[in-house]
Amino acid sequence: MGRVRIEARKSTWETPMANKVTHVAIALRESMEELGWTFERERSERIYSRFAIVMPMPKVAYVFRFVVTPGEVAGLVFEPLLGAGGYVSPPDEYWPRAREFCDEHGILMIDDEVQTGFGRTGRMWACQHWDVVPDIMCMSKAVAAGLPMGVCAAKGEVMDWDEGAHENTLGGNPIIASAASAVIDVLTEERLWLNAAKVGEHIKRRLTEAQDEAEIIGDVRGKGLMIGLELVKDRETKEPAAEERDQTIIDAFKKGLLLLAAGPCSIRLAPPLILMEEQADSGVDILLDVLKNV
Ligand SMILES: Cc1ncc(COP(=O)(O)O)c(C=O)c1O
Repeated sequence: MGRVRIEARKSTWETPMANKVTHVAIALRESMEELGWTFERERSERIYSRFAIVMPMPKVAYVFRFVVTPGEVAGLVFEPLLGAGGYVSPPDEYWPRAREFCDEHGILMIDDEVQTGFGRTGRMWACQHWDVVPDIMCMSKAVAAGLPMGVCAAKGEVMDWDEGAHENTLGGNPIIASAASAVIDVLTEERLWLNAAKVGEHIKRRLTEAQDEAEIIGDVRGKGLMIGLELVKDRETKEPAAEERDQTIIDAFKKGLLLLAAGPCSIRLAPPLILMEEQADSGVDILLDVLKNV
């Protein structure tokens, strides 16, 4: 792994995560703007959240030229499909290109599948959508159906540590391990990612069609049952409809539909993987009804 160095910057986003570690938060629009880069929203068909952008690869190259040299970078941590930042996924060529880039420079790719993993996006792992094999994968959330568990898996050469290099007290909790084992059995026996892909497409189709009438829906995106809806005041200016988004969540709740925000003006839909089309339809009906009146 590469050498690391201290480089604290004023932004709280860029506070080093650990001593002697440079945290280059390349996906954060604000940190990029601090470095003097500007982003043209209109250049992309997508409406990117304020907090997270998909950074064009030439700009990643720029980071390695002017911010930190490739030899100093140990790993690239990425969410294949951005979660809390607004459910944003990059152009299809993005992650394969990042893989090539990391291979070129001996950088480990660390795939955060905490939100996307275990069938959520219509594949067991989101990175499979792009045929990208990471060096390390982090998993949590769905792994034990809500019981607290985190998993880190890696290629053998990465995990070949000296004895005692890593240990923990509660890592082998038998109850939670049994729950995780049951989750994996059900998921694989019922191939639930296939249902996620099918019902997710159905929901996305309905929401995309609804854009004809509901001007407020600026963008519908995502994969499987990880769907993001970005609300805008105006499709031309792409001005975020933050208050309307919050109001939508409250109004939908009153009608029995539980939604969660993501990013400044998006709503995330992440229903259970066993959701059936008719159930999805009743949720979409409520959501569209609320959006009509917000
Ligand atoms: C993408 C992603 N990574 C990591 C985490 C942190 O996971 P945990 O709460 O299991 O530590 C979260 C939590 O929401 C997340 O969404």
